[in-house]
Amino acid sequence: MLNGPNLGLLGTREPGVYGSKPLEQIVCDLKEKGRQLGVCIEAFQSDIEGELVSKIGESAGRIDGIIMNPAAFTHTSIALRDALQAVDVPCVEVHLSNTHAREEFRKENMTAAACVGQVMGFGATSYMLALDGLVNHISGGK
Ligand code: DQA
Repeated sequence: MLNGPNLGLLGTREPGVYGSKPLEQIVCDLKEKGRQLGVCIEAFQSDIEGELVSKIGESAGRIDGIIMNPAAFTHTSIALRDALQAVDVPCVEVHLSNTHAREEFRKENMTAAACVGQVMGFGATSYMLALDGLVNHISGGK
């Protein structure tokens, strides 16, 4: 599970848009769901694009799948898109908010085309739905 810039501020960051659950709680809930599904989840948050790029690079051969909320980098980062395309690791992109229902610049998306799917608009539940989708994808489901 990878989370991009400012997501470490969840809980107090624009709760009307992103909800009031801190990232630690979302991570905890996702790990619990992972345990129920029999998968082990590692979580990493960074405000630094290159650190996320490196994590994706390190995932090859070590991680079965990625759930990533690239946050603002979604709209700008060719480096994250290239990293996802460079490794043979399926990624589901997550957003708490529905980015299509917000400012015009959030409709621009650099990363989703390098992902197997996308879940957005359901707050913290987006991560849970993404995990279901990713596990189903890895197990060969459509
Ligand atoms: C976000 C949406 C992005 O546009 C924004 O920059 C974020 C959070 C979301 O989860 O809704 O930081 O990725």
